Amino acid sequence: MTHTFQEKVQSYDFNEPDWVWRDGRLWSLRYDDGFTQKEDPLAESQHVFIEGNQLLQRWQNRDTFCIAELGFGTGRNFLNCCQQFTGPKLIYWATELHPLPANILLQVHARSPLQYLSNQLAAIWTTLQPHGLQIIKFTPSVELHLWLGSSLSGLEQTEMQFDAWFLDGFSPKRNPDMWSPSIITQLARLSQPGTTLATYSVASSLQRDLRQAGFDLKLRQGSGGKRQVLAAVFKKQA
Ligand SMILES: C[S@@+](CC[C@H](N)C(=O)[O-])C[C@H]1O[C@@H](n2cnc3c(N)ncnc32)[C@H](O)[C@@H]1O
Repeated sequence: MTHTFQEKVQSYDFNEPDWVWRDGRLWSLRYDDGFTQKEDPLAESQHVFIEGNQLLQRWQNRDTFCIAELGFGTGRNFLNCCQQFTGPKLIYWATELHPLPANILLQVHARSPLQYLSNQLAAIWTTLQPHGLQIIKFTPSVELHLWLGSSLSGLEQTEMQFDAWFLDGFSPKRNPDMWSPSIITQLARLSQPGTTLATYSVASSLQRDLRQAGFDLKLRQGSGGKRQVLAAVFKKQA
């Protein structure tokens, strides 16, 4: 039997929620990890992902810019990009295996500068199909290409070339599927010279795999309790 998206998210909601609120942040019981860092999730998004990929500079003078995020979660990084994007066209491709219910998206962003945009996201959310690729014209200049399924299956099925990667799965220890060598192979396949990547994880296995796949790495100063975060530029297919 197939279920509508609404039925699916409601079943998460009422039967077996796999997340809880813990110390003011959303916490995944499935992965035993937080969706965002504790102190200031928006500052983390800005520092790690937007500045780590130098997006404000690179969005200038580009007709179309393509971002890929692994782990859409609360939509924080997506909404943060939407709020600041000034170019003609942004394609934001993202994966999510366990979509959160719309009411949780609303709660997460309540009283944040992203609240207005999160209302718009929640309204669209309830119209989505439960699986596969959904293409949503979110604003006149931003298209959301949301893959509801595993990151690996989504990556394997796309031929897009991305300008920037946001790696935002739960930590590699808790969720190795999001950081596997197969994922890194796909990142390289869908990158071109100059494609950038940013993540909060500095796991040594991740650094090794990214280097082997053709990325040049830079450790940046961290934020919100993390000593360091990672930024990278794709140079060539290894
Ligand atoms: C750290 S949280 C997301 C953070 C998100 N970017 C945000 O700002 O809210 C990681 C997300 O990855 C999703 N996820 C976990 N494993 C996945 C997989 N194999 N494929 C796609 N998404 C996955 C989780 O459901 C969760 O929403």
